[in-house]
Formats: sequence, C-alpha cells, structure tokens
Amino acid sequence: MKAKRVTMLGGPNLGLLGSREPDVYGTVTWSELETLCNDWASGLGLDLVFAQTDGEGDLVGLIGRAGVDSSGLIINAAAYTHTSVAVRDALSALSIPVIELHLTNPDAREPFRRRNMIRDVVTAGVFGLGIPGYRLALAGMAELLADN
Ligand code: DQA
Repeated sequence: MKAKRVTMLGGPNLGLLGSREPDVYGTVTWSELETLCNDWASGLGLDLVFAQTDGEGDLVGLIGRAGVDSSGLIINAAAYTHTSVAVRDALSALSIPVIELHLTNPDAREPFRRRNMIRDVVTAGVFGLGIPGYRLALAGMAELLADN
C-alpha cells in the first residue's frame, strides 16, 4: 500500500529550537526533531514532508502546497498562530485534516498568546507536551487518515 503523505510545518523561530529559550522549548534542535518525526512517521506508515519557514507568505505557500500533495497537515504556526489572518485563510481553504501543534500551552503563557487565529479552522490540536507532542500529532493524523 502506498504511504499516505503528511506535511508537517513549523513557523517562525522554530528553526532556532535547541538554542531558543531552552527553559521554555527544550534542547532538541529542529534538525533532531526532523529525524525523530521521520522515524515516527515511517513507523506509522506515513510519508513525511517536513519544513520550517520564518516567513508568513512562505508559510501560506507551503500550506497551499500541502493541500495539493498531502493527505493531512500538522502545523506549528508559532507566533503566526496569534497574528495571521493569511495563515488562517490558507488553512480554511484546505479540504484535508489539519492538526494544530504547539510545544508549550500558549493559553498558560502571556495573555497575547491566548489570541488564536486558527483554532476554529483546524480539525484537532496537541499542545503543552513538548517534543512528544509531535509523536502524538503524527499518531493522531494516522488515525484521522485511517480508511481514507
Ligand atoms: C509555540 C507557541 C507560540 O506562542 C510561540 O510564538 C512559538 C512556539 C509553541 O510551539 O509552543 O513560537 O507555537
């Protein structure tokens, strides 16, 4: 059976994982996270596209591409979660399942992180679990795509 393709996207500053506020985000680097996610995805029979961008327009483009070439999207939109109508509109345009993912629980942090532009246009969410949240998001996506 052909592996189902899932796109996993990271928004601004996630490329700095490992050195960025390690007390908040941990010490695993983005590149180490990519290796972990590829292993987890292949264990679940998923073919993973993994990408990160700091640019809002780039993120919108990658979301649109996922809608064309993937069966599901997992996105940590990082700060754009709280600010971007463009990211929200790009997600709204998709007809594939979308999982919103965060390393931390944004609602338990600064008040400005409680504003969420995408929550009501995604299928499901995983937050506050750190790196293992990525594994759970992939497992959740595999469930959403089962028998599809
Ligand atoms: C984040 C939470 C966001 O509020 C923040 O802007 C990030 C990372 C997380 O994964 O916890 O950059 O999405």
